[in-house]
Formats: sequence, C-alpha cells, structure tokens
Amino acid sequence: MAIITKLDHFGRGIFYDTKITFIDYALPNEEVEYKIIKETLKYNVATITNLKKKSEDRVDYPCPYFLKCGGCSLEHLKYAKTLKFKQEKVAEILSKYANLDVKINVIANPSPYNYRNKISLKIWQGKAGFYESKTHSLVEINECLLAQDAINKFIKDIKYLHLENADVIIRTNYNNELLIDIKSQHIEHIDIDYLTKKHKIVGIIVNDKIYYGEDKFMEIIDKKLFQVSYNSFFQVNPYITAKIFALVSENIKPHSIVADLFCGVGTLGIIAAGKANKVYGIEIVPNAIKNALINKKINNSNNIEFCLGDANKVLFAIQDNIDTIILDPPRSGLSKTGKEAILKLLPQDIIYISCDPMTLARDLKDLNKYYEVKKVYIADMFSYTYHVESICLLTKK
Ligand SMILES: C[S@@+](CC[C@H](N)C(=O)[O-])C[C@H]1O[C@@H](n2cnc3c(N)ncnc32)[C@H](O)[C@@H]1O
Repeated sequence: MAIITKLDHFGRGIFYDTKITFIDYALPNEEVEYKIIKETLKYNVATITNLKKKSEDRVDYPCPYFLKCGGCSLEHLKYAKTLKFKQEKVAEILSKYANLDVKINVIANPSPYNYRNKISLKIWQGKAGFYESKTHSLVEINECLLAQDAINKFIKDIKYLHLENADVIIRTNYNNELLIDIKSQHIEHIDIDYLTKKHKIVGIIVNDKIYYGEDKFMEIIDKKLFQVSYNSFFQVNPYITAKIFALVSENIKPHSIVADLFCGVGTLGIIAAGKANKVYGIEIVPNAIKNALINKKINNSNNIEFCLGDANKVLFAIQDNIDTIILDPPRSGLSKTGKEAILKLLPQDIIYISCDPMTLARDLKDLNKYYEVKKVYIADMFSYTYHVESICLLTKK
C-alpha cells in the first residue's frame, strides 16, 4: 500500500520509499495498492490494483478510451485542479532550471472538451485510432472528446477513405469545414461522393498532392481571417489562441518595431501590426510564408514584411532597431545562434510563447543577464493532457 504524495510533470502519481515510484492515474493523497510493472535502479513504474482511498479531486472520466489511449492523462482530475497542476509544474520548472520564482497567472480554457481543431490518427490494418500510452499498439477509436464535433463526425465515416495503413491528419475550422492530409503507401479508392455529401470537405491531400479540392482552408480567430495550408502550423485550440492574441496585442507598444519569430501563417505578427509601426515575420515552412503573405493582404496589414528562412539566422540580417520580439518557437526552443542574435539586437521587450516549459526555462536562464521576467502566464491550450502553453513577458534590465 502507498500514499501518493504528488503528481510528476506527466500527471502520474508518485510516492517515495527506498526509491521513487510512478503510478499512472493515481492522485495526491490517494491510498493505493499497486503492482510494479517496471523496475530500474533509480525508479519503479506501477499500476493501481486497488484504489483504497479516493481523492476528493477525482472525477469520473467521460472518455471510454481514457486509461488506454496515450492522448489524455488528466481526465480523472477536476478541471480546476488540472490547471493547478500545470501552474505548479511550470512554477517548479522555472524555479529549478531558471532560478525564477514568479507568480504564474492562469488562462483557463472556456471549452476544456471539444476544443481541438486538428487530430492525427493512425490507420493500421483498416482500423483508425491513437497509439496506446508508451507503446505502438493501436487503440481503435470512434471519437476523441478533445476534438471538435466536425472531426468526430468524420471519424465515424473514416472507413470511406478505404485505407489499410496510413497516417491521417484531420483539421477543421470556424465553419466546420475539413482539410484531410493523408500519408500512405497505398491508396485504393476514396469515396469522395459519399464523404463530400456528408461532410464539408474543402480538400483531401494524399502524399503531399491534392487528391480532391484545395490544399488549404480559411480560419477565423477574433474576427481576423487566416489562410492555412495543410502543412502549415496553426494553434490547435482556437479559444486559447484568441486569448493569446489579446495578450500579445496588450503588450505591443504603439508605433513600435516588432519581430515575430517562428511566425507560422503570420497570426501574431498581424495582431501586432494593429499597433506597431512595422513588423518583421520569419518562418521556415514555405507554405506557411505563402499563407502569411495572403493573410497580410486580407487583414490589410501593410506594415508587415515576411521572410522565409531560419529565424535563428535571418534575425542577424535585420537592420532596424527592434523594440519587441515575439518568440513562439517549436518545442526545442531557441538555438544558441537564435539567442546570440536576440542579445545582439537587445530589444526592449520580449514576448516568449512556449509549448515546452523545460526549453523555456533553459532559454530564460540564458537571457537572464539582460532580461527580467515581468509576468508569466500559462494558457490551457491542451486541456486534460499534461502539456501546457506558457507566455512570458520579459523587459530589458
Ligand atoms: C509553435 S509554432 C508558432 C507559429 C505561430 N507563431 C502561431 O502562433 O501560429 C512554431 C513555428 O516555427 C516554425 N519553425 C520551426 N523552426 C523554425 C526555424 N528554425 N526558423 C523559423 N521558423 C521555424 C514552424 O514551422 C512553426 O510554424
């Protein structure tokens, strides 16, 4: 028997005796009987065999695949407590790895279920699903409670793609339209007539070639219109994206000069352009930059210049005096060159948006000599998973 002391960064319950033991789906203060399924010199991994005393924060999880599918890890916890878990996780990481003890402000998700506008499914031997947690076995699914309704309706008809083995990314937008991106060695016959009668399919792309319709669609966030190609990045949660837009807009000074690094289809740069005199956007994916150039036009943001290239390097070429840098890098965070380029430009303000608190902490530590962290927010972009989006406002010391 063990009493769980806290959650680890992946949402697993932990307790210590001679070494640390991680127990999936166990919550703090619960008393559990358990079975060890993996033993190493430093730690054990176990599963619950008998939940002797339940936490007051435990709730019935609505998803039938929850304990098997590797997508969610926190559906058994009250929503408010999942936010507290993420708040404490980011606070702990920033304190431990960046020496930063700051208040973490929380931006909740107004729709903690049915928020995702994109999911990636595996099709294996004709069955569609997600990988089981920590394995490559498929958990066949009929719907995903994190995904928006248009995606779930499509999953119920996915057999009409007639795929045996494939990777399928399904995206939807403000108008419940669908963009389907398929990677597969073998395509037999996609039942376009049936699928287009039942779903608002804008395009089906197979192995990077258009099979039906278009390879892009439009998204609207906060009255701004964005073209998004099938392989361009777009934030997966439109409700939280709107809140990040507001935060970015609040923190751009009138008449300033801004660089939006890792700009994707240009979203944050276009928001900044509403207040700034001039914005530079840098992005490495060619289709995303094509989208950004269209988005500049449709949103009348004539004061933006978009550049295709590696943000870590292109930044060195900017000759202007940049007042604010918006940074929204991939999980890996900033490269050494990227940090050198930023410290060469030394903008007054940095708005750092991160989907990985570990690389965020590493980068904040490296910027620490010249920048003070004024405010930190977490935004619940990925509800009921252990993932978290953080936004840090930095000012030159
Ligand atoms: C987390 S996304 C942010 C996109 C955008 N800011 C948004 O909110 O939609 C990171 C973006 O960085 C791009 N990217 C990755 N590595 C890059 C690099 N070295 N230079 C420029 N862009 C890069 C990706 O293609 C992706 O669009």
